[in-house]
Formats: sequence, structure tokens, C-alpha cells
Amino acid sequence: MDRLIIISNRLPFSLDRQGDKINIRQSSGGLVSAIKSYFESEGSQKSELTERLWFGVADFPQEDWDLVAASQDQNQDFNIVPLFVDNEVYDKYYNGFSNSVIWPLFHYFSSLARYETAYFEAYKRMNQIFAEKIAPLLQPGDKIWIHDYQLMLLPQLLRTRIPDITVGFFLHIPFPSYEIFRLLPSEWKKTLLEGVMGADLIGFHTYDYVQHFIQSVKMLLGVDNYFRTLLYQGRLVKVDLFPIGIDYKKFNQAAYDHDILESRNEIRRNFDEKKIVFSVDRLDYTKGMMHRLNGFEYFLENYPEWREKMVFILNIVPSRDTIPAYTERKKLIEEKISAVNGRFSTISWQPLIYRYNHLAFNELLALYQAADAALITPLRDGMNLVAKEYVASCATQHGVLILSELAGAASELSEALLVNPTDVTDVAGAIARAFTMPVYEQRNRLSQMQRRLQEYDVLKWVNDFLEQLTQVRIEQQKQEVRLLDDRSIVQMRRHYQRASNRCLLLDYDGTLVPFTRNPTEAHPGAALTDLLRRLSSDPKNNIVVISGRDASSLDRWLGALPLTLVAEHGASFKKKNDNWQQLVSVSDLWKEEIRRIMQIFVIRCAGSFVEEKANTIAWHYRNTAPDFGFSRSRELLNNLSSLVQNTTLQVVDGNKVVEVRLSGFDKGITALKIVNEMDPDFVLCIGDDTTDEDMFKALEGEAYTVKVSAGASAAQYSILSQQQVIPFLGILSTPNALTEKEYAGS
Ligand code: UDP
Ligand code: G6P
Repeated sequence: MDRLIIISNRLPFSLDRQGDKINIRQSSGGLVSAIKSYFESEGSQKSELTERLWFGVADFPQEDWDLVAASQDQNQDFNIVPLFVDNEVYDKYYNGFSNSVIWPLFHYFSSLARYETAYFEAYKRMNQIFAEKIAPLLQPGDKIWIHDYQLMLLPQLLRTRIPDITVGFFLHIPFPSYEIFRLLPSEWKKTLLEGVMGADLIGFHTYDYVQHFIQSVKMLLGVDNYFRTLLYQGRLVKVDLFPIGIDYKKFNQAAYDHDILESRNEIRRNFDEKKIVFSVDRLDYTKGMMHRLNGFEYFLENYPEWREKMVFILNIVPSRDTIPAYTERKKLIEEKISAVNGRFSTISWQPLIYRYNHLAFNELLALYQAADAALITPLRDGMNLVAKEYVASCATQHGVLILSELAGAASELSEALLVNPTDVTDVAGAIARAFTMPVYEQRNRLSQMQRRLQEYDVLKWVNDFLEQLTQVRIEQQKQEVRLLDDRSIVQMRRHYQRASNRCLLLDYDGTLVPFTRNPTEAHPGAALTDLLRRLSSDPKNNIVVISGRDASSLDRWLGALPLTLVAEHGASFKKKNDNWQQLVSVSDLWKEEIRRIMQIFVIRCAGSFVEEKANTIAWHYRNTAPDFGFSRSRELLNNLSSLVQNTTLQVVDGNKVVEVRLSGFDKGITALKIVNEMDPDFVLCIGDDTTDEDMFKALEGEAYTVKVSAGASAAQYSILSQQQVIPFLGILSTPNALTEKEYAGS
């Protein structure tokens, strides 16, 4: 049975000592809320996990913990393992890199980011401390789930220590667009991505964040992706969206809790049944408090009929209050609240009720239930659980959610009144609309959102993530290509000899011939020509050379042999002893714009060049300074990908080449077509490049597929180098028995 190991910076509680007494205070924030409510939920307790451990940093002394731990009930839903760390390093890691670099930047507050080397060093150190302390406590079979931006290096650090580890990573905040992410110094951004890529499964709240992450990984680490699967250092890594949920039942059923109901009624009585707008957020500039107050002020100015008939209860939860960006914001907010109250209050009425404190769970729920509307208008938010909790709490189907369109939750809660938080008219209009919204409309909107929240609650979120984590490990094992050994070759040869209609699909560059500095020099040597001649002279054989090369090069090098030649991934082909045929007959005007861009890159990157074929244009960077060529290729990919959107063109990130071609022709489609037409009883397919992966996938179960090079692939087997391909084909087609020695020595 498996153990679940949660690792986050923040533990679910802090300890406050007052004299001899130690008080336990629940931590604030979405991460803790979610994990804690999962552990406490009924469904989680029924799961098959044998043990649940939660590692995090202790913000209290060891002796306080010893006292608390000794008095704790041992039969808890989960066990806490506090990590005691050096305060100075922690400060630079937490207040510094985590909350003064990553947090502002990832929330698009780039002007607040402070790029200090000491912060980055402390971040690396603290992630290492986590790894050093946790790695010795792990056991085989553990499922490790690392949470959030404070620990982005930890997946890789743990994997370096225990290569076979199963580890997931979830980011609770937005992953920004590449244009923002690239603002980080080069070493930092690469280190962060490499750190996260140590995980097997990487989760985000929304589709946009997934896309942004994949783009950054492609641009900075040069990793190939197939939809949401990445191939990194020969290991398959899955990236996916898992929109975090809440414990729906707990919030919904609280409406029937006697104490909570009492508190709710008391709140309403205190405000003489006036309309109540409520908001609760941690003190954070991302929560858009100033804009919200501006919107509220605009509401009071422009909807005077609501004065004295409503109140806005604004609760701010203390957070990160040693960071200047936070303390300064608090001062400004409090000044603004005083100004609004000063301006609009009457002797018997004050529009804004402001509190700066942590709320107990029952109090929070009573406020959710008492509110006619929740005003949740962050400028950026990974998800925003408060919005979901409010909707779930409206069990009587009364209440209106006003939500920022910039919160991750907006993509799931589309029946909320969505507003742009910076637009005061929008915010004010939404408050007025909430107050006058007919009950049936409130019910309609709420019930649709509630259904969704109920279906994908926190239990589902966790189970979904853990199931996918298991699935990725299974896929990884499947993808671990088996090295082509003697036994497999002997088996394959037996099949070859029995077969009467064979089809051999052979890639050219990197498979039949080695790569050359200049593609025009990659002509076949005598050994290859002899082999192809011998293979194709056997009437049972159909030899197909399937390449991205243009027809004229293939024709020049191989045209005299009785082979089927496929050029440009299938856009033109020549059947054995036949003439060349073009499958594409569109004008090639599209090439002009692509050529122009590629030529700019030739000027900007010495050693690169453009190759033009009938249906493809390619920019080669094999002969450039490696890092420089690679980073230019990322820029070119980026430029071309947006250019070809919604066209019939396709950009392919190949082996040291970026290619644009007409979509609809890939080696997978072409290979399948050939095999279907020939109906052979033996199929072998060999290739080395990304484009060959299409063939391996398309021919799965129908062919022996062999990848030239190690690492994960959709192929069944791998051969380590191109030099082994010709000997292998020789042995396969020679009737004598194969000995290990012969193959090894060949
Ligand atoms: N919350 C809390 N203490 C409070 C008030 C609220 O812990 O005094 C909880 C709230 O119920 C919610 C979480 O804090 O679950 C806030 O999560 P959200 O995703 O809205 O924002 P975050 O704080 O994570 O940025
Ligand atoms: C957000 C972050 C969490 C963090 C929480 C509270 O939800 O995603 O990682 O725990 O805010 O912030 P704090 O700095 O107090 O842990």
C-alpha cells in the first residue's frame, strides 16, 4: 500500500505562545484550505492510502512543537512533519525570492519584483534543505506531491537523490505568459523549469497556465511536446490542468448547522436587514483591494438610492506583513477606507465595515450566508477558493457572486457577474445589479455553478491528480524503449524469413546516413547502396525510404535503385520503377513570408541557412554555436507558430532544424497509407527524429519499430547509434543463424 507525502512550504497551522499557553492557529490561504479539507473529508478517509504525511516549515520553536505533539491525539487524519530551518536563509527564501520575485512576477506585477542574487541563492539553499531532510525519510512506493511556487526546485532535487521516485508538482498560482517569465535572469528561469521538470506530473489550475508552461519549457529547455506530454532527458513528463475544488458538502451543509445559522441571523439583525456585500482576502496586492474600493466609492456616488440601505463588510486576513509591498498596501487601503467612510457615512450609517483579522471557520461561513453578494475582484489569482466557497454556501439559493474575470475561477464560474476589476463602472454596475437581481435568476445562476463545484470537489481534484500520477508512471514504463538485443533480432529475423510480402520503411538522415555539416553532402556510401540493392533485389521485399528531403535529392542519390521513395514526408513520392508524383498542387505563395522571416534569422545567427523544397522551407542550425542556435530556434519557432495559426501550414521542431510545411503530410499518415496499400506480413520501421515518432505511433501493433538513439520513444526498440543500422539490416536479411558475437562485432 502507498503512502501519500504532501510537501508544502506552509503547514496547516502555526503555534502562538502566550506565557505557558500554546495556541494553535489555522494557516490562511487556498493551498492549506484545500489539502486540509481533503484530508478531513469522508472520502479521503476511505481511500487506500496507508499513511498521509505533511511536510512543511515550522514557524515555531521545536520545544513548542514537542509539547503540542505530545498532547495530540495520535489517531489523526494525517501526520505533520515540521521542518526546523535557519531563520536567515528562510527569510531570503520566503520574503525574498518566493514572495518578492516569483509571486509578483507570476501575478503580472513585474514592477514589484526584486531581482536580488542573495534571494535566489537562499531559494536554492532552502529547496536543498527540504530535499536533504525529506529524502532519507522516503520509502519505495511513496507518492510524493509537492505544492507551489516556493518549492519549484524540489522535484528535481529529490529525483537526483532517488531517481526512481514518483513525484507530482502542483502550482497554485498562475504560470505567466512566456513574455513575463522571460524577464527572470537566464540562469534563474532555466533552474526553475529544470527543477519542476523533475516531476512526473505537473498540474495547473487552468488551460492557459498549462500552455504558458509548455511554451516556456519549449523555449528555454528545448523539450519536445506531444499535446501535454513532454519528453525530458529521456523521461516522459505529463502536464495537465486540475482546477482545484473545495469540500462542497462541508460548505453547503453548514447552512443547516445551528450555531452557524444563529451567527448568520445575528449579523443580519445587526444590520437591520440591509443588503450586505462581503469580501474576504489575504492582504495582497493581487487581490485588487484598492480597485475594489474605488469601484465601491463609484457605486456610492452613482447609485445614491442605495445609501443607508446597504453595507460592505470587508475582511482582510493578515499575510506576509514584513514585506514592504504588503505593508505599504495596507496603509493605503486603510486610508482609502477612512476616506470613503468619512465621505458617505451618516450619523446612523457607515458604508464600510472593515476588519483586519483571521476568521474562524464558523464566522466565515456565517458571513458567506449572511451576504447578499460577494465582491471578489482580484487583479490576478491562480484560482480563488473564496469565490467557490461562497457559491457552495448559498444553500438557500440566495446570493450573487461578483467575480473578477482575471481570477482562475472565472473559467469555471461563468454564471457569476464577471467584471473587470479595474473598471469602476463595471464593478459599481455589478453591485447594483446584484441588489436588484430577481430571486429566480439568482437561483438559476447559483444552481449551475453549484452543480459544477459539487461534481469536481476537492476529493475529485486530489484523486484525479493521484490517478494521473500513477498513470504517468505506467506510461513511462511502457515508453522505456527496449534496447534491440540478440534475442529480439533472432525473433524478428524468424518472422522476416517466414514472410512473403515485407515492407521496410527506412528514414534517411540520421538513420541510413549520418548527419553532415551540409545537408547536400549526405549522399549514400557504398555499404548502404550495396545493402539497399541486395534488399530490393529480393522479390518479397518492398523497400521504402521515407524522408523529409526533397524529391530531387532522393532521386539523385537513390533513384537508380528499385525502391519506393517518399519525399517531404509524403507530399511527393515515387513508387518502385515508376515516376515521381506530387500530391500537392497549391500555389507556393505562402513561402514568401516564411522565407523572409527565416532569412532574417540567417542574418542573426551565423552558420544557419535556409533550405527550400517543393512543399517545405526549413531553417537549419546544426552548424551554429550550440546554445546560440538553440535560443534563436526558439524565437523562430515562436514567431512562426503564431504566424501559421489558422492556416494550412504546420511548424515542425526537428533535429537542429525548424521546418514549415503544409499540414496533412506527416510520416505517420504516409506510412500507414503505404502499409494499408501493400498489406504486408512483415513491417519494419526505423527512424531517428521527431517526425519518425509519427510513424511509430501510427504503426503501433502492426510493425517492428526501431528508434535510432536512446531515450523515450513510441518505438518498441532502440539502437544506440546510426552506425549500427546497416549491420542490423544486414543481419536481419542474412539467412545464417546469428550469434551474439557476430552482432556485437559487426
Ligand atoms: N480563509 C482563511 N482564513 C481566513 C479567511 C479565509 O484561511 O481568515 C481561507 C478561505 O476560506 C479560503 C482561503 O483562505 O479557503 C483563501 O484561498 P483563495 O484561493 O481565495 O486565496 P489565496 O489566499 O490562496 O490567495
Ligand atoms: C497562496 C499560495 C500558498 C500560500 C498562501 C498563503 O494561496 O498559493 O502557497 O500558502 O497563499 O500565503 P503564505 O505566504 O502565508 O503561506
